[in-house]
Amino acid sequence: MKAGVLVTGGAGYIGSHTCVELLESGYCVTVVDNLSNSSEESIKRVEKITGKSVKFYNADVRDKNALDKIFAENKIDWVIHFAGLKAVGESCEKPVEYYDNNLYGTLVLLHAMREHGCKKIVFSSSATVYGDPEVLPLIEQCKTGGTTNPYGTSKYFQEIMLNDVYKADNEWTVVLLRYFNPVGAHASGLIGEDPKGIPNNLTPYIAKVAIGELKEVGVFGNDYPTPDGTGVRDYIHVVDLAKGHVAAIDKICSPGVYTYNLGTGVGYSVLDVIHAFEKACRRKLPYVIKPRRAGDIAACYADASKAKKELGWEAKLGIDEMCASSWNWQQKNPNGYKKD
Ligand code: UD1
Repeated sequence: MKAGVLVTGGAGYIGSHTCVELLESGYCVTVVDNLSNSSEESIKRVEKITGKSVKFYNADVRDKNALDKIFAENKIDWVIHFAGLKAVGESCEKPVEYYDNNLYGTLVLLHAMREHGCKKIVFSSSATVYGDPEVLPLIEQCKTGGTTNPYGTSKYFQEIMLNDVYKADNEWTVVLLRYFNPVGAHASGLIGEDPKGIPNNLTPYIAKVAIGELKEVGVFGNDYPTPDGTGVRDYIHVVDLAKGHVAAIDKICSPGVYTYNLGTGVGYSVLDVIHAFEKACRRKLPYVIKPRRAGDIAACYADASKAKKELGWEAKLGIDEMCASSWNWQQKNPNGYKKD
């Protein structure tokens, strides 16, 4: 029998896609999520896609009693830890909430894991830990830190905490997955990104313009030292990203700290993404050039060869598939998971 996996934040965007891939690979999946930025409906859809069931707990990872109950009631071999707050702008306004959710949440989880003898964790980290890159593409040995907002700093601190946990007890297996820019949705159109309010990130914003809910895309700066002057990022299809987690728990079988970039290795500009989305939705999308957004960097993309070499994983889906799947999800679910 395959291992049991506890997915914290499993009702969220990346979490729900990862649950699908885990179930399809034969893992037993338990989810804990406080639904602060997600919906239980996503779990039902995961079950619909896979025809398998998920054990769901509506609880906060900072609730130690709830975690104790989850570990007592389920066979958990691995934890994949997504739960946390993730909006850069909001983190600058609410640093206490961000550190409380992200750092304290991880600490409570680590306490519970240790007490229940589960010492294998995959952590949802971010390319944001590299700060403003000195060289591109980014390799895992590049300098980390120099983060410019509490969200990014919390990811950086959590990586340090997890490294220290391994240093103190070499029985731990710690996998740090540094995501680049996850976009797109499952091919079924049943699960996808469902941001609350006006989206901050580029592709959900474009999707809302494409469906007519927002007037035009604001392009944050066209004077960066990039080919067309707009910001360049390594967009990665969320299904590829989800598969990266399965590859990690399939492959890694001895204790240690393992760090991988999960990206495609290809950078696209904001205008490239708008044009790819135009192809997907078959219409011109209005955009206006706006000033640069505070804290943004010119370009960021991965060298993802370490994950390919060690995990046998690489991203397969390109920008057209990312935009087409995002558009498919948007059209089928104009109100996200909310009932119309
Ligand atoms: C952001 C976070 C990153 C996080 C990631 C999650 C920052 C500095 N970083 O990355 O830590 O892990 O989201 O996906 O916020 N853009 C526009 N118009 C828009 C929105 C974005 O032009 O309406 C541009 C941005 O300037 C950037 C690119 O699109 O060049 C991507 O932006 P976004 O989707 O917000 O992601 P990041 O900022 O790269």
